[in-house]
Amino acid sequence: MKRTYIIILTVGLAFGLSISELFAQGDNGQGHFLVFGCTNCHGNQGEGTALGPSVAVGALSVDEFIAYVRQPTGSMPMYPADILSDTMIQQIYAFVTPDMQQQSAIGRVDIGEQVFRNKGCYQCHANEGQGGAQGPRLGPNPISFPRFSWYVRNPNGGMPPYTDIVLSDQDLADIYSFLEVRLEPPSLSDIPMLSL
Ligand code: HEC
Ligand code: HEC
Repeated sequence: MKRTYIIILTVGLAFGLSISELFAQGDNGQGHFLVFGCTNCHGNQGEGTALGPSVAVGALSVDEFIAYVRQPTGSMPMYPADILSDTMIQQIYAFVTPDMQQQSAIGRVDIGEQVFRNKGCYQCHANEGQGGAQGPRLGPNPISFPRFSWYVRNPNGGMPPYTDIVLSDQDLADIYSFLEVRLEPPSLSDIPMLSL
């Protein structure tokens, strides 16, 4: 909790705002987005930076958005409700996704399958994207498209980065569509050998 206040202060001071100006900004989504340091990683309008994906394309519902901020699954810091209330996150959401229009390139499943093979994704994530010893499962139900494409360009673990020179945005959209329609793996209770 203390750490968050330090982040808030550092961010505020970095932008040359006095404390009173910080609090004057605090009653709207844009203000919260700045004061709580979201802009540092997601950009001033939520458009994304090398430190975090775009949150501006409306890929998540407001409930999913709040849930992610409460319980991030990657490198993002967690914001509990006593620091950032649901109402404040709703205001942030309204600020970063003013109109939910633009969706990125339309993906094509059959081409996505070829790109997934040609670019070597299958070597670590397995033929159907189901994951294995070298990489996690990617589908079905992949993470949101903005987060997906951001991760492929800016991985922070054992995965090599793919720039837009080797893998275009259209390639990413195609791979994503391919992963979306993979079949659910059978649940353990559906495997007779295991239910004996
Ligand atoms: C230190 C950098 C950092 C800060 C600060 C930060 N984020 Fe993030 N955020 C990330 C990263 C990186 C991801 C990608 C997934 C991960 O690693 O958690 C992410 C993912 C998200 C997602 C999920 C997007 C999706 O499409 O699945 C949301 C929503 C989000 N951030 C909102 C916020 C909000 C709101 C704030 C401020 C209250 C914030 N973030 C502060 C780095 C940050
Ligand atoms: C050399 C092995 C390797 C290759 C090749 C590879 N990945 Fe990965 N990938 C990983 C590993 C390991 C992770 C787990 C996080 C990490 O270590 O970076 C990962 C994580 C990811 C994630 C994040 C998953 C999540 O739930 O956060 C995405 C998305 C992804 N890979 C997509 C791709 C795509 C698309 C390709 C092909 C263009 C690809 N990967 C090629 C090894 C690989």
